[in-house]
Amino acid sequence: MSTSSSYQTRQFNLSGLRGISDETLEMHFKLYEGYVKETNNLTERIAKFIQDGTVDQEEMPAYSELTRRLGFEYNGMVLHEYYFDNMQSGGGNGDADVNSRFRRAAESSFGAYEIWKADFVGIGKMRGVGWAICYENPANGRLSNHWITLHETGNVAGYNPVLVMDVWEHAFLLDYKPAERPKYIEAFFSNINWSMVESSLKLAGTKTAGA
Ligand SMILES: [Fe+2]
Repeated sequence: MSTSSSYQTRQFNLSGLRGISDETLEMHFKLYEGYVKETNNLTERIAKFIQDGTVDQEEMPAYSELTRRLGFEYNGMVLHEYYFDNMQSGGGNGDADVNSRFRRAAESSFGAYEIWKADFVGIGKMRGVGWAICYENPANGRLSNHWITLHETGNVAGYNPVLVMDVWEHAFLLDYKPAERPKYIEAFFSNINWSMVESSLKLAGTKTAGA
């Protein structure tokens, strides 16, 4: 059943990326579509449990499991949208511009852009299945990088995701060997759409940040 409140699969034009093949993207878009479908499916199934205004004791185990799964699927859907939005068709320019707001924010938060990058890349290389995410603290514009296990464990409540990198093996396995994640991370950087990243910043890199 599809309702008007269902989440819709978004389309992304990311052809011609550097070091990330169209074949990889095609497969990745299909996986993303699966998260959207499952988010809708779980949302509908959970709604059936609560439509009579209560969750009965015998319903609780199934209701609980579906609700836990919703956290996985929902974050899987949303994080993939951030990830695809963070890259640009034909590739980008590599690092953030020297005079950009993002560069200033990284410098004020980490002391130097290179330190911010070493931290972000280091998190991306961590063993395990998940994501590296640079967040902005909406209260003061400070940036911080975090490891997210799977899709849902480690997201910082209320923080603003600014740069989102998928490091599940499906993101690069058609292009690189499992042990070559660093090459994929390098490829990701060469495709970053920094203007999109900057448009996500609310306070960071402005004069009021950290005030
Ligand atoms: Fe993914």
